This record gives sequence, structure tokens and C-alpha cells, in this order.
Amino acid sequence: MTYDEIRKLFLGYFEQHGHKIVPSASLIPNDPTLLFTVAGMVPWKEILQGHVAPEYPRVADVQKCIRAGGKHNDLDEVGFDGRHHTFFEMLGNWSFGDYFKEEAITMSWDLLTNVLKLDPNRIVVTTHISDDEATELWKKIAGKDAIRLDKDNWWSAGDTGPCGPCTEMHYDLGSDLPGGLPGSANEDGGRWVEIWNDVFMQYDRDANGNLNPLPKKNVDTGAGLERWASILQGKRDNYDTDLFVNLMNAIQDVVHVKKDESNVASFKVIADHLRSVGFAIADGVIPSNTDRGYVIRRILRRAMRHGQLLGHKGALLSELYPALVREMGAAYPELARESAHVIEIIRNEENAFADMLQNGLKLLDSELPKVQNQTLPGAVAFKLFDTYGFPLDLTQMILRDKGMNVDVDGFEKCMTEQKERSRADTRGTKILWESRNELPATDDLSKYAPVANMQSRVLAILRDGEFVNTANAGDNVEVALDKTNFYGTQGGQVGDSGELKSGDTTLVNVTEAARAGNIVIHKGTVVNTINVDDVVTPVINNTVRTQTARAHTATHLLQAALRKVLNTDVEQRGSRVAPDSVRFDFSFGRAMTEEEKTQVENIVNDWIKQDMDVKHEEMGIDEAKSRGAMALFGEKYGDVVRVITAGDVSCELCGGTHVYHTGEIIKAHINKEKSVASGIRRITMSVGNLAE
Ligand code: ALA
Repeated sequence: MTYDEIRKLFLGYFEQHGHKIVPSASLIPNDPTLLFTVAGMVPWKEILQGHVAPEYPRVADVQKCIRAGGKHNDLDEVGFDGRHHTFFEMLGNWSFGDYFKEEAITMSWDLLTNVLKLDPNRIVVTTHISDDEATELWKKIAGKDAIRLDKDNWWSAGDTGPCGPCTEMHYDLGSDLPGGLPGSANEDGGRWVEIWNDVFMQYDRDANGNLNPLPKKNVDTGAGLERWASILQGKRDNYDTDLFVNLMNAIQDVVHVKKDESNVASFKVIADHLRSVGFAIADGVIPSNTDRGYVIRRILRRAMRHGQLLGHKGALLSELYPALVREMGAAYPELARESAHVIEIIRNEENAFADMLQNGLKLLDSELPKVQNQTLPGAVAFKLFDTYGFPLDLTQMILRDKGMNVDVDGFEKCMTEQKERSRADTRGTKILWESRNELPATDDLSKYAPVANMQSRVLAILRDGEFVNTANAGDNVEVALDKTNFYGTQGGQVGDSGELKSGDTTLVNVTEAARAGNIVIHKGTVVNTINVDDVVTPVINNTVRTQTARAHTATHLLQAALRKVLNTDVEQRGSRVAPDSVRFDFSFGRAMTEEEKTQVENIVNDWIKQDMDVKHEEMGIDEAKSRGAMALFGEKYGDVVRVITAGDVSCELCGGTHVYHTGEIIKAHINKEKSVASGIRRITMSVGNLAE
């Protein structure tokens, strides 16, 4: 039975048993305690807690999950066995205050043994030590004596929230495999595999650790589709099932190496990481240096390291993504819909890291002979992190293969010291740039209309607090040019990222463009030697540019909607516009009600749907005022100003970058509204793919 067939069979079974079938929710949870959707129950948490009434009492779905950070983290296990994944699909059925233990166990048993026809003698079940009821039910329904366990049979998604005792079903892969029964000392041997978990959600754990009974008793079940596929296809390794075999073949084609015993771990890691990275970006995650963006960046870089172990250089996951769409696009249409966007983001990441990986490995090789006690000094791991973009866990992964580890405390110490230095530096470099008053103003109109193949001269390079003529691979620099396309951070809008290139060669990987007065400063890491007087092409990252423009225009729509719903006294008090996300502070004396928030969000989305024209115009300040353009409280403007007009709903003075039609924003979603100071409220909003 293929993956597509199993999904269909599972959902069909529960549909016949009165369940509403719903599509998978996003991998980005609407839950600040989690980085990713780690289990099928995450999207249902509010219902399970009794905060939101369920639309249907019984539901079934196949949920995309990522376990690669926080409490549920399988990242380090991937590749070493046949059953760990950072991305996986969880089959699940739910009862929201409808059926409970008896019906849940009856259906699980019926589906496994009567429909899938698994041999009942090859299944053992476990229950929680406190749960006599489930234990007796197993005896009655299946004639099974449950193994009673403690920790393993209690389930929760996070430290707080809904939880309860659970009962697991384990399948025997064969007596020739090592490994004991669940709960025994050698349970991890590989013979028994957990195939289904029925959780009886009865409690809500609060921040003090108290278990409060839930208003309604619920059932949350989860079964790993990859494990079902392996059993139903007679395999012992999830990576030998149809979907993975096809992905592995695609990997062989890209890396031009055949899979064998010696390299299979790298194949598994790449196949797994392709799924996490591809699905997460399709759901709106952008690789970055924080939170879930950093988890995805780390996973992507680990995949590249495994590509390198297979002798492959450069683009990997971006080349493999079409294979993922072929394998899983029918079940998850978002993969094909977002294809161009996902490939571009992955490619940018891969381009940025390819040279750093090679150079970092060289440094590591030169350090290894000096290592004592099998422990790499924290300072070296830090240099790899800071200069070559090696996440700590990547260095640890590389060293583990050699039986070594990293002095993590030493690494953390370097990290803290660097943070302190950089706080001092940000004040410092601005002063240094201001001393270069012969440099021309480069904050000009090309930032709004980037010039293709612009030829710019390098005028100054700042490294470690000094102006230098040359900087080499790995150096952190700030570069000034005689002209540029980059938008330097200003007016609350985060600056462009991208590259300074010479032909096809990347000289500097620009992480953010900033401004010192009217000079645009390109901050980033040198990839290939750069000199003063070199001619370079400033290439902005268009994906980030588009996402930031969406967020900026959405901010204007948000302000207009707030004035409509609350009152016209609402005024902007500050904002931060980043790719696909917005923080907007405004004057208002009380918390917004739920209805007001929904109303504002609906109005903004209505305007997005109407796909109104967005005009970008320059005009005299008097004309702008006579058109009623909104200006920022306390801001000074020149005689000529830029006016951004969206349909007939918003007209604002603004120096930021914007979309040309509101439809480009795709969608807006208000995440939070809170107080930041007396009389000032803050809204955080996602837009674009992230909001979707
Ligand atoms: N939420 C349960 C699990 O993830 C079903 O195992």
C-alpha cells in the first residue's frame, strides 16, 4: 500500500465512523509555546482545552509535523536508524467531548486487525499505570494484557496545556531483531515499533504544574504514516518505503553517487531534511537567525554538509524540491503552489552557505590535530559559527562522526562576549562612517527601482573597527559603494539583504543594509576577497524585498482599518516592517475587543482581495497635504515627499518599498494586540505566505 493509499484508507475509515475529514493545518502553529506543529493535536489545542467550541465533535486528518527543536526534537537521531524523521505525517482521529476510551480503542483495534489485517499476535499494547479502565478495555476488546508504564504513557505537547494518560500499540518487526518489549531495558533495540498512540486528554496542566480536569474528556490519537507504510510494505526501515525510495533515487541523480551501506545515512538525512525545509518554507517560514527560521537554516546547512560528504558541492535541496513536489504534491497542493518561492529561498540560502561550508571545513581540518581530550575548544566552534555560519549542532554533528565533541560552555562564553562587543560596535561604526564625510550620498532612487547589472565601485570597507583596502573570506565587513540598489534600514523598515557580486562570483553576502546619514552601508560576510576600487554588482534578494513590500503596504492598510473601526484619532507611534511580518504601535486608550480585532483583520483582507492599485508618487509637500496624505506624528519632511496611495482607502507619506496591487499581499493575519505603554497599543501581524 502506497502513502497515498494509506492516507485515503485511514481517512475513509473514520469518515465511515462519523468523523469530519479536514486538511492538515500549517506547520507554523498559532501557539507561542511551540516553534512548529509537533503533533496532530496542536491545531486543536484550544478546542481540547475547552476555550473554543468544536465545529464537529469527531474529526480525522493527516497532519504535517516537524520535531526539530524544543521538547519534541528528533534532529540528532535522523540518519542513524530507520524510523526517525524531523518531518513526518501524523494520522489522527479526535473526539471532542464525544466518544472516549472504549470507542477509541475499539476503532484502533478494528482498523489495525480487521481492515489492515495486521496479525493480532504481533501487536502488544501499553497503558498508563494509573489507567485501570483502559487496561480492562484492552482485555475486553482484544483479549490483550496491557504492559503498564508510567512516563511513556503520559502525553502532552508542551510543558503546559492539555495532557493525559495514553495507550500505545506496538508492532513486532520480527524475532530476529534485537530489542525488548516496550518499557524493558533494551526497548530501543528495533524489534518493536510504536504504531499508534491513543491519548485520553483529561487534564490541562497550568504553569505551576497543577493538573486541572478539562471541562470535557477528549481523545487525541496519533499514528506515524511512515511507520505504517513500512509495515504495510513489509519493510523494516521507513526509508525503504515507496516515497523515500523515490526521493533517494532523485538524490542519486543530483549528487551522481549510488546509495550503498557506507553512505546511506547521508541519503536518509538529505531525504528527511528536504521534507522539513521544503514544507516549512512552503508554509511561510523564512530561514533566519532566530526561532523557527534558525531551525530551518540549521537543517538546511546540515543537509548541505551531508551533500558534501557525498562529494557534492553547491545547490542540493533546491535541485531536489521538484522531486518532493512529485512525491507529495497530490496530498499537499501548497508544495506546487509555492514552488517558485520555495526554490528561490532555498537557492539563496544554499548560495550563501556553499563557500562558507568549504572554507569552514578547511579551518576545522587544520584545527583537528591540535584537539586534546577529544574536545574541540569553544573558541574554534565559535569561529566556525561566527565567520562560516556553522550552527553549533552542525559542528557537533561533524565531530560526532570522528568521536569528538565541542566545549559547549566555552562556545557560549564566546557568544556572550561577542554580543557585548557588538552592542559597543553598533555605536562605534556609525561614528566611524560619519568621519568619512567625503563619501557620496547613496541613499537614492535606485532603491525603489533597482537597476539590473548595476556597476558600482567599492569606496570603503570597514572591518573590526578599521577601514581596510582588502577583506578576505570570513571577514565581517561593512561596505560603502558609489551607488547601490539596496534599501538601508530606515523608517521602521528592515533593510535589504543580498549579495555584492563580481560576475557570477559572490564577494560579500549582505545580511542587512543599514544607513549612516545618507550613505548606505552593506553589512555582511566576505565570501571571496574584496578590495577598495573593485567594481561590483549590488544584487538584492528579491524574495525578501517582495515580502517586506507586502508587509509595508499591509501596515498602511492596517492603519486605515484601525481608523475605520476604532476612530480617526488612532495614530501611528512606531512600527517595524520585516519580511512578511509587521509590528505596529498606535495611540489608543484601551485593549481592543475580539470583535474589533476580527473586524480590522477582515477589512484588511477585503482590501487585499479587491486588488486595489497602489500608487507610488513623488510630489511637493503642499500637494501631498492637500490630498490628505497622512504624515507621521513628530516626523520632519523635506519639500518633495513620496506618497503611497492604496485605492481610495489609504494615502500616506512614506519612504518605504511597497507592492503595486494590494492582492500581492495575499493575506494578513493579526497575531496579537497588547499594551506597550500607557495609551499605546501594539499589533503584531503576519502577511503573505506566513499569514496563509
Ligand atoms: N498526540 C499524540 C502523539 O503525538 C497522539 O503521540
